[in-house]
Amino acid sequence: MKLTLTKKYAATIAEFKKRAPFSVDMALILGSGLGEFADSLEPVLTIPVSELPQYPPSTVAGHQGKIHFVDYKGLKLLLFQGRIHYYEGYTLDQCLLPAELSALSGAREIIITNAAGGINSLFSPGDLMLTSGFNSMFLKKELSIILGAGNIDQRNALVQLTEIPLYSRIKDTAQTSGIALKEGVYFFSKGPSYETPAEIRFMREFGADAVGMSSVHEAVYAIARGMKPALISCITNFAAGISPNKLYHEEVTETANLVRTKFETLLKNVFNNTIAKN
Ligand code: HPA
Repeated sequence: MKLTLTKKYAATIAEFKKRAPFSVDMALILGSGLGEFADSLEPVLTIPVSELPQYPPSTVAGHQGKIHFVDYKGLKLLLFQGRIHYYEGYTLDQCLLPAELSALSGAREIIITNAAGGINSLFSPGDLMLTSGFNSMFLKKELSIILGAGNIDQRNALVQLTEIPLYSRIKDTAQTSGIALKEGVYFFSKGPSYETPAEIRFMREFGADAVGMSSVHEAVYAIARGMKPALISCITNFAAGISPNKLYHEEVTETANLVRTKFETLLKNVFNNTIAKN
């Protein structure tokens, strides 16, 4: 496999490695409106991404651009507060820097979170959804270049999210914590604009439960780098055409704020159960 990121971002990686206080067990990428979770964890070290050469600044409201190292009861964590989106105009390899830095830090598992629009008629804003499957068809070419041509089909075939131990750990944790956790298929849309109602009807026909503009490339790349990913969506709104209201980014961040406690409890209990298992 020919990975292009290490060479291209040598300066970012060198500075990151110089400052990293320890190698980590697990990484987390925090999606729109979910970044505040990092503040509840008392990081050992915080690196503003602006201090890493070549690291793209976030242009989206609610994405802070900080990387945190956390020691949670001995479980070493790396958190990305703020993500780099493809729809911001960045290249896919720029978007994959957090996943690459996670791999370089030794993370074996990565929890990728995002805000998403609900398509499944049983979903409401404020629900959390664990991703059982996703589409990467709009990114296959770009991913195959980064991963080395020919590899991507093979790697996609390996994406059976429900068979990854972290998947059942999250599901079991939600159950024992009394947190309702939906399961479903995340449909990747390139953005930057929200979908049309016709596009949402199309996605629903093809099995989508939720739609968002991130995460799938991070998950495919994570697998290629030997990490086990799990994806959690915060359903922040009804997808286009499902509710008569127009969609606004503020609605996305406001709903994400409302689920903060539930999200925090779920993740901390996942950490506790990860410690118990180790
Ligand atoms: N569509 C795409 N991405 C999103 C949405 C949506 O409705 N909500 C949050 N992210």
